[in-house]
Order: sequence, then C-alpha cells, then structure tokens
Amino acid sequence: MRYLIDNFGRKIDYLRISVTEACNLSCLYCKPEDNFIHKGSSELLSFEEILRVINAACSLGITKVRLTGGEPLARENLFFLISSILEIPQVRDFSLTTNGVLLKDYVPKLKSKGLKRINVSLDTLSSDKFKYITRTDYFNDVISGIEASLAAGLLVKLNVVVMKGINDNEIFNFVRFAQAKKIILRFIELMPLGRAGFGMAGEPDRNLFFDNLKYVPNFEVRKRLEYLGKVTPCYGFASGPAAYYRIAGFSHLIGFISAMSEKFCYNCNRLRLSGDGAILPCLGSSFRVDLKAALRKGAGDKEIAGLITKAVRFKPMEHSLREEDKLPYCAMSEVGG
Ligand code: 5AD
Repeated sequence: MRYLIDNFGRKIDYLRISVTEACNLSCLYCKPEDNFIHKGSSELLSFEEILRVINAACSLGITKVRLTGGEPLARENLFFLISSILEIPQVRDFSLTTNGVLLKDYVPKLKSKGLKRINVSLDTLSSDKFKYITRTDYFNDVISGIEASLAAGLLVKLNVVVMKGINDNEIFNFVRFAQAKKIILRFIELMPLGRAGFGMAGEPDRNLFFDNLKYVPNFEVRKRLEYLGKVTPCYGFASGPAAYYRIAGFSHLIGFISAMSEKFCYNCNRLRLSGDGAILPCLGSSFRVDLKAALRKGAGDKEIAGLITKAVRFKPMEHSLREEDKLPYCAMSEVGG
C-alpha cells in the first residue's frame, strides 16, 4: 500500500471529482446567472479520462472518491462512471454530493451497484424560499429524492449553508427534520466563492461574505441551538472537516463545517479534480495542475501520477479564503463543493 503525504505530513487519500459545472439550480450564493460559460463536452474530461486519473491517483494512495459538480446527476450517463468507479478495488469509499433534484430515479440503480451513502444539499425546508434561493421550483423533487434514498436504506447527510436573513430562521426546523428522518445534518459556513465572493447578480459590488451580509459563523448557530438543549462536542466521531455536536434530548449528532471560523486545514486529506481536468490541491487557491493537456497529448500512467504528486507538493498549509485579495476567481460549481 502506498501513501501520498504532503509537505506538512498530511496523508492525502481523498479525491473529489467535479464531473460538470452545469447545474439545474442557480443558487443565489453560487453560480452567476450571466457571464458563466459552461464548458462544452469536449472541454470536460471524458469518463475514460476521469477513470485514468482515478486509477493513477489510486496507484499513489487515494482510497476515497466523491463525485460532485455542478450537479453530478446532470451529466449524461453518469451511471456508467459510477458503476466503473465502484468496480475499482482500491476505491474503498465512494459517495456522491447532489442537490437531489434528479435523485429519486437514480436511487434504485445506485443502490443496486452498492452505494451506501449520499450527501444532499438543501438550504431550506420551505418551497417558496427554495424558489428564492435556487430560482427553480424543484423543492418537491429534492424531498422525494431524500425520501427515496432513506427508503432504500442509504445513509443521508444533509448539507445546509446558513445565511443571515435568508434561512437562519430555519435552523431549528432543520434539526427537527433531520431527527425525524434519521438524517445526519451538517451546517456549512458560507465561503467567499462564487457569487458569495464576487457579488450577487444585480449587486456586483456587494460581497456576500466580506461585507458580512449573509455569513453566519457556526459558533453562532450552536449558540442558538442551545435553546433546544445543551450542545456538547463529540470528539472522535468525524473523519472529515465536520465537527460533530450532540444536542441534549436529540439522538442524532449535528455536524458543523466551519471552513471560515474554525479552519480544519490541518487535517485536510483531499485533492480536487475540476470538470475541465485540472488538479486543485486546495479549494481556496488558484494553483492548478492541468491533467487534461497531458492526457490528450498521450501521457502514460506514470506521467499522470507524477502530475498528481506535483499538485500535492503545492498543497498549501491552509486556505487563504479569509484574505480578500487572494481569492480564487471561481465558484464551487467549477471545482466541486
Ligand atoms: N459557501 C459555502 N458552501 C457553498 N456551497 C456552494 N457554494 C458555497 C459557498 N460559497 C455548497 C453547496 C453544497 C456544497 C456542495 O457546497 O450548497 O452544499
């Protein structure tokens, strides 16, 4: 077994792959409505190319793979890629992050291939607010997708980006919903990426994060949750960036992904592959290693593995998302949330 270790002693064993930038939602903090050019199909890595990258990464020590987007289920024939990944023996842990819109019809197929768990992003439990946040009307589809996943016995994690004045009045509802449905709930801090970092449509000079318009630190979310019951940390439960807490009287733990207020870079284990074929060593930096060019010039597996190792060498000690002048000009939809 090989291990991939970065310059700061972190073991890198996790590859997150954005399979498309396209999304069937247009969330107000994420994707610009205008001036956003989707990569054409020839600019995206093909499934064959993605599988080559995964195999090269696995030969170096990657054992966990996640597909993200954009919206991964919006990519045509994604099931072919999922099936192929689930057949790679070195991939011991595979999952998917989806907005749930197309999930319902996928669940039986995913389950039959051995998928065990899924992450769904949903920022509101109100269909009207869903229209406001996502500019679409798919609320019921997302709920059906969650229900279908639970009925099939998949473990569901629900990701909620908390925003001041938009959905921060729904924190209790989310806790009760997760408890009733036996879902693992995670509150995510808004990060200055996409519209949240570069101004919302119509308000290009207002920065949602740095103008402190919408950002709610997770310690504040926890403070508010004390109203429901004493909130205590549960160390040792998490393997990823989420810190888990228990609320007295509730059986399910709640996760907090606090990329801004409580950086978790010290145990970051991930690399990202963008839809257009670049390896990003960190979500919050502009540095990327172009694998697509190499793949299309006929690079061998060794060369691809060498480029992945190079990206690991450039993995920064921590992200610089709190430094306004160092922000990468990209949305989560390009690099995989
Ligand atoms: N800040 C925080 N989370 C974000 N996501 C997308 N953009 C941002 C942002 N600027 C979230 C999505 C989803 C996950 C994949 O990333 O809402 O839950």
